[in-house]
Amino acid sequence: MYICVCNAVTERQVRASVDAGASTLSDLQFELGVATCCGCCAATAAEYLPGGRCSSVCDVRSIAVPVNTPAAVADPDVPAANTFPVPLVAVA
Ligand code: FES
Repeated sequence: MYICVCNAVTERQVRASVDAGASTLSDLQFELGVATCCGCCAATAAEYLPGGRCSSVCDVRSIAVPVNTPAAVADPDVPAANTFPVPLVAVA
């Protein structure tokens, strides 16, 4: 998806720039040229910066809770819930 139509800057490019350390709109403007023409994309681009609504990929990872805790897997008599991939069940 294009974030900046004027400069043909994609969401992927913005995310990569943020992952590489861009933390302000000025950084994105310098790195990618986003929001340097009409400026309509400035607010959208800023949402990909740390703390923005679209910066959630890293934030989600940081708050993710593993579904298979070592305690649940360690006991062989207790069927493991939420295992992935889903175990196959034979049908008689
Ligand atoms: S859409 Fe980004 S500067 Fe115009």
